[in-house]
Amino acid sequence: MSGLVDKAGLVSAMDMADLAATLMQSRQTILPKRLTEPGPDATQLQQILNAAASAPDHGQLLPWRLVLVPTDVRGLLAEQFAAALQERDAAALPEQMEQAREKAFRAPCLMLLVVDGAKGDPEVGLAERLLSAGCSVQNLLLMATALGFGSALTSGKALKAAGLRRLFALSASDQALCFVSLGTAQSRKPARLRPTVSDFVSHLTPEQGVQPGLDLSKPEAPSGLF
Ligand SMILES: Cc1cc2nc3c(=O)[nH]c(=O)nc-3n(C[C@H](O)[C@H](O)[C@H](O)COP(=O)(O)O)c2cc1C
Repeated sequence: MSGLVDKAGLVSAMDMADLAATLMQSRQTILPKRLTEPGPDATQLQQILNAAASAPDHGQLLPWRLVLVPTDVRGLLAEQFAAALQERDAAALPEQMEQAREKAFRAPCLMLLVVDGAKGDPEVGLAERLLSAGCSVQNLLLMATALGFGSALTSGKALKAAGLRRLFALSASDQALCFVSLGTAQSRKPARLRPTVSDFVSHLTPEQGVQPGLDLSKPEAPSGLF
């Protein structure tokens, strides 16, 4: 019996695996403009943020953090989105500036994911820190999905703008990675076609080096792989 199964054996390991697969497959990007009230309440937000804490973290540096942007301060973000656009394009039209501002007001719950490339042990490089940040945000998205919320990650050039960096008090070693938006999905697109295992898995062989796909023809493959 798996450690995930409760003492009464009510949830079998297979059920747990099915649940996990269903949860992962049901997460899909819902663009922030389609995320409306209600967003997570305080208890749900705590649950969602707790999920991020389960991410693997080499050296336990906690190199990433989340900055919540409550609705009453979205105007500050809106001004930075507009300023970032004007910095990139001095000829931006008023309606384009307005569109840039409007993006700050879209989802009921908005956070910025930041990674610090220098915090703690310098032996833990940026790639490892980014991986930890990616795992944390995936955990968070899955918990939000489990609670019935739609979600999206969004990036964009404004993340690098000096004004936005100032607003979020980012240090020289901080990188703003993406915004995380959560809310109630007003509409959903059909689930996108996911890649299949053979699209991203290969295996190492003694004679031919790396070969595409996963060779399950050998009975020992699944356990011998690792
Ligand atoms: C770091 C990151 C940033 C993203 N930024 C944007 C974005 O700015 N705009 C957007 O439409 N989607 C953005 N996405 C969402 C991806 O486009 C989306 O995950 C992808 O199309 C796969 O769809 P799915 O999430 O429904 O599986 C981002 C995803 C990641 C991981």
